[in-house]
Amino acid sequence: MARDLAGKRVILTGASGGIGRATAEALAGAGARLAVSGRNADALRELAGRLPDAVAIPADITSPDDRRRLVDEAVRHLGGLDILVNNAGVGSWGHFASSTEEINRRVLEVNFFGPVELTRCALPHLTDGVQPCVVNVTSMCGRKGMPAWPEYSASKFALVGMSEAWRGEFARFGVDVLTIVPGMTDSGFDKNWLRTDGKADLRFDKGMTPADVATGIVLAIRSNKTETVLGGEARRLLRFNKFFPRLTNWLIARKVRKLYTGG
Ligand SMILES: NC(=O)c1ccc[n+]([C@@H]2O[C@H](COP(=O)([O-])OP(=O)(O)OC[C@H]3O[C@@H](n4cnc5c(N)ncnc54)[C@H](OP(=O)(O)O)[C@@H]3O)[C@@H](O)[C@H]2O)c1
Repeated sequence: MARDLAGKRVILTGASGGIGRATAEALAGAGARLAVSGRNADALRELAGRLPDAVAIPADITSPDDRRRLVDEAVRHLGGLDILVNNAGVGSWGHFASSTEEINRRVLEVNFFGPVELTRCALPHLTDGVQPCVVNVTSMCGRKGMPAWPEYSASKFALVGMSEAWRGEFARFGVDVLTIVPGMTDSGFDKNWLRTDGKADLRFDKGMTPADVATGIVLAIRSNKTETVLGGEARRLLRFNKFFPRLTNWLIARKVRKLYTGG
């Protein structure tokens, strides 16, 4: 199925910056009508002001009241709902041994429970939508757990798993579920991490641009592609891991030992 984005009514979370802002611009450019969300009200209003027929609805994805209000206000403004893009997320960079239960739970709240419960609020409206779909922005860490990303990997694996289960379940409502699996993106993501005590030399400046990811998301929605891995590095890592899982794990463990014990 090819999905025409013209006139589609969309809720997009995490639109105040990075990948979300670029995705809002790309979706609006394709003719979609948007309710853009996040916590930074000023950034959202600035964005909505530049897009035709867009509305800014500030909301904290971890708050049940905010989730309900976001869906209600978006549906009232847009006159219904066709697409929900769960893009809001937070990172946490460092090893499990130096983390805390609080960080673990916070990452799961933002990256898993928030989007999942927002989808619960949106589903009754999506079932009445035109070519409806849920788009979950996960990560390559949601397909291969990575050192220094323990909570983040767990949260994204959980969202990938929920997406797979929904795909079968939502078929009876005619609602498609699309999973986006981006690799490293130079979005400013690292400025918002909950902790930064990881050791590897991460080069976000060598990653994709937010516009690259936005282009991939729009293409996935248009072509109704079930799962889209974005970025050469993510594609290479996941393919290598698929065919050589033991070697991949050995190489990763060797790198961690070098970084942390010098051996
Ligand atoms: N950058 C990468 O390398 C990369 C790679 C793979 C996947 N991803 C995923 O891509 C998505 C977008 O990330 P990004 O790279 O664009 O990073 P970003 O610039 O930090 O954007 C994160 C967005 O999430 C929103 N957000 C965070 N906590 C929230 C909360 N409690 N309630 C509502 N909104 C919240 C932020 O808005 P407010 O601060 O205004 O709330 C912001 O708009 C995330 O799901 C991330 O995990 C990123």
